[in-house]
Amino acid sequence: MSTAAGATLGIDFGTSNSAAAWRVGDGPARPLQLEGEHFALPTALFFNAEDRRVHFGRDAVAQYLTGADGRLMRSLKSLLGSALLLEKTEVNGQAISFQDIIGIFLKEIVARARQQTGAAPARVVLGRPVHFVDDDPARDALAQQMLLQAAHAAGLANVSFQLEPIAAAFDYEQRITRDSVVLVADIGGGTSDFTVVRLGPARARPGADRTQDVLATRGVHVGGTDFDQKLSLEHAMPLLGFRHIGPGQREVPSAVFFDLATWHLIHWRYVPRALREAQALRVNYTDLNLHRRLMTVLDQRLGHHLANDVEQAKIATSQTGGAAVLDLGYIERGLRSGFDAGAMAQYLQALLARVVQCAQECVQAAGLQPSDLTAIYLTGGSSALMPFQRALQAAFGDTPLVEGDLFGGVAAGLVYGAAG
Ligand SMILES: Nc1ncnc2c1ncn2[C@@H]1O[C@H](COP(=O)(O)OP(=O)(O)OP(=O)(O)O)[C@@H](O)[C@H]1O
Ligand SMILES: [Mg+2]
Repeated sequence: MSTAAGATLGIDFGTSNSAAAWRVGDGPARPLQLEGEHFALPTALFFNAEDRRVHFGRDAVAQYLTGADGRLMRSLKSLLGSALLLEKTEVNGQAISFQDIIGIFLKEIVARARQQTGAAPARVVLGRPVHFVDDDPARDALAQQMLLQAAHAAGLANVSFQLEPIAAAFDYEQRITRDSVVLVADIGGGTSDFTVVRLGPARARPGADRTQDVLATRGVHVGGTDFDQKLSLEHAMPLLGFRHIGPGQREVPSAVFFDLATWHLIHWRYVPRALREAQALRVNYTDLNLHRRLMTVLDQRLGHHLANDVEQAKIATSQTGGAAVLDLGYIERGLRSGFDAGAMAQYLQALLARVVQCAQECVQAAGLQPSDLTAIYLTGGSSALMPFQRALQAAFGDTPLVEGDLFGGVAAGLVYGAAG
């Protein structure tokens, strides 16, 4: 395949969704359709044990949910910077590391991108969060290194990195008509990232050095998957025995519930040793029905199904302002749970406070007051979460919130930022 001179491929490898964009020279960014007509590709792989093929994105999730035999992987980005990334796991009879699995995913993005562009890029820009790992610069650098290695394994060359919120800012800049000072909030699945940046049509010249325009960046490792975890621990895991008081007034050990509520740890609970451990928890239960449910979830590998239901309930509650029901009949006939908007806001309050505090610190680090901001630009799937928007508005008073592209902005901004 030929290389397109002056062409840049931007890849936003996200915790929950990935996207890609293409740009030739100073032309417009072209978002690439990575799955059918969809631009975003859910960051999900399913290793199907029946046809021994790897499935990606919505197709991966659908295969898993229809009960095909195999392994589902989600939220792999959360493993970057941790020792778990290099651990081997067995899929379709082969032992491979999670880093290899990220490489397989990136390779698929590149293949799908090339089907549309017809040529290889001259260079690649990968997005990265402000912090892969909070408060640990060495592990953070390691995380980027691990992602770079996976990109090389996927056949990518000439790779550079750009901070995700700065990319989101460059995308927003394409749509504004006057000079602005903007707080960009990219609230994703794994991280919430902020930047305060000077934007304007005249500043967006190809090749311009924008270093002086970026006034501050901050990020915190809290995102939609943490909201899902919290809601699962409050509304789903108690049905399996979380916080259940067993014989001797002792609580059932909780590690299994935390893992089952955490997207990137679910599959560890299906390995034989973990299953034996869970089986042995039986003596810690007074109500054995709860233990039976736990074993059903583990034996039938329903963990992602449950996490998916909690996530969908979160989104529905946010969108309607009402209540969402979790129909858990696939675990036990007639089993249900759910929550309303008030309960969700209450349970997410502490996590949202950390996100909003990070936004405030970013503005302070830029030496500005909220009233100095022209707007707050919202991007990333979790920026649509109503309790988040309310908490942010409460902290920033009258500064207008501008709702942007939830899933494609970072990829487009990666190629705009690289122009020149
Ligand atoms: N309408 C919605 N309301 C609230 N949350 C939503 C909505 N739509 C999607 N989400 C959440 O957004 C998150 C995914 O957002 P996004 O695709 O921007 O993340 P990502 O780019 O994959 O993650 P990151 O940038 O942190 O690596 C998920 O946690 C999902 O549950
Ligand atoms: Mg993102």
